[in-house]
Formats: sequence, structure tokens, C-alpha cells
Amino acid sequence: MKKYGVNELREMFLSFFEEKGCLRLNSFSLVPHNDTSLLIINSGMAPMKPWFTGQEIPPRRRVTTCQKCIRTGDLENVGKTARHGTFFEMLGNFSFGDYFKKEAIPWAWEFLTERVGLDPERLYPSVYVDDDEAYNIWLNDMHVPAERIYKFGKEDNFWEHGSGPCGPCSEIYYDRGEKYGNGPEDVMGGEGDRFMEVWNIVFSQFNNDGHGNYTDLVQKNIDTGMGLERLAVAVQDVGSIFDVDTLKSLSSQIIPAR
Ligand code: ALA
Repeated sequence: MKKYGVNELREMFLSFFEEKGCLRLNSFSLVPHNDTSLLIINSGMAPMKPWFTGQEIPPRRRVTTCQKCIRTGDLENVGKTARHGTFFEMLGNFSFGDYFKKEAIPWAWEFLTERVGLDPERLYPSVYVDDDEAYNIWLNDMHVPAERIYKFGKEDNFWEHGSGPCGPCSEIYYDRGEKYGNGPEDVMGGEGDRFMEVWNIVFSQFNNDGHGNYTDLVQKNIDTGMGLERLAVAVQDVGSIFDVDTLKSLSSQIIPAR
């Protein structure tokens, strides 16, 4: 596999989804507008909530972005895991009442295995426990063996952050191999760094009013998010997000204190 750089991977993702009919937009500001449920933008979908709910008309029903993100909930893990940072870029493709599971899953697979060249045998999808439709797409259309498809509950495979659009999701993990962890936590869905979650495909069907009341959205949507730095960790086969080419070129300039 070619060891693409972070900047190459970002461009590869955005142009791949342009080919699929998505409109490429710039990253939105890290400061949310008209959203009192968030202090800082934490995902590609956050600035697009009104497009998911149907409150506003999007510029196109298919969009792709690379969004600057900060997740305050991740901060406690920075320096402890290979995969959490104070800041990251999230690659995303989004459908507002347009394509759904039957397109979003194959496109993710095509991008990772054919464009980027990740070994399909190292990729492990997970689905929400009741989501037979997503399970069957992985099994029958993508031909992933049943023993590599995991079913997880709401804690892992239902995406929501504060109020707004949410839904069951399917995540794709990459097995980085034993050299990056062989403890009891280094299992699929575990807390270790061997199996790294790279991409989350959310089937946004519900609206959470912020008090745990769910209603159907007027349309079915797709919200996906892939950590650009995590993808680069897998592609470049490096120890952590701090070892990918762009961050390494910065940290290598820092002269250690004596
Ligand atoms: N919104 C989803 C996430 O951030 C894709 O994981």
C-alpha cells in the first residue's frame, strides 16, 4: 500500500465524494452558529443540523467536507491513547434525504479498499444490534465474512451528541496488528489501540429534543465521519496520530529542553 500523506488523503476523500455527486464545502468555523447545545464544533455534521432536520434547504442534497473539530470529551485521553487528539479533522460525506445505507456502505468500502488500498481482511465493520439491513449489506454485498461483522448496542452504535439529528450507525475498524497492542483491551470494540475505529457511518433518522425524546426526521439522512489523522495512522503504519507526516514534520522541529 502506498503511504499517502495527510494532505493527499484529504484530497483523495473529497474528490472521491465529488465523483459520487457530493458538493465540496470548506470546513465550517469551530465556533457554532445558532446552536446553543454545543460550545465547539465536534463533528462534520454539527454545522449542518438544519439541513438534516429539513429546517433549511442545503445547497445540494449530497455534500462532502473536511471539518475542523474539537471534542472536549476526548481531552482526558490525549497522551494516553494513540488515537485521541485535542484537535482533529473529520472527513465526511452527507446525504440530506438522498442516498442511504445501500450507497453509503459500499462507497466507504470502495474508498478504503480500492482508492486508499487498505487490506480488506484487516477491516472490521460493526452495526447496531437491530440493524439487519446494514448487517446484510456488509455480509452479502461487501462479502465481509460473518465472523468479522460485530453487532453492538446503543452505547457503541447509536450516534448522538447533545440534541438534534441522530441514529444507529455502522463503524469501520482497522486492525493495526499485534505490534500496536496485545492486551485484553486489544479486541474489536475494546479500549485498546490495536483495533482503531476509523470511520463512522450514521443513519440519521431521528431527532433528539435534548431530553431523550426521539421523533422521526422528515427525511432519512447519511452522516459519516472519518478521523483524517486516524486514517493516516493506518495508511502510514505509525504508532499514533502524533506520528503522521504532517504532525511529525512539526514536532521534529522542536528542540528538546535540556
Ligand atoms: N457524526 C458522526 C461522528 O462524529 C459521524 O462520529
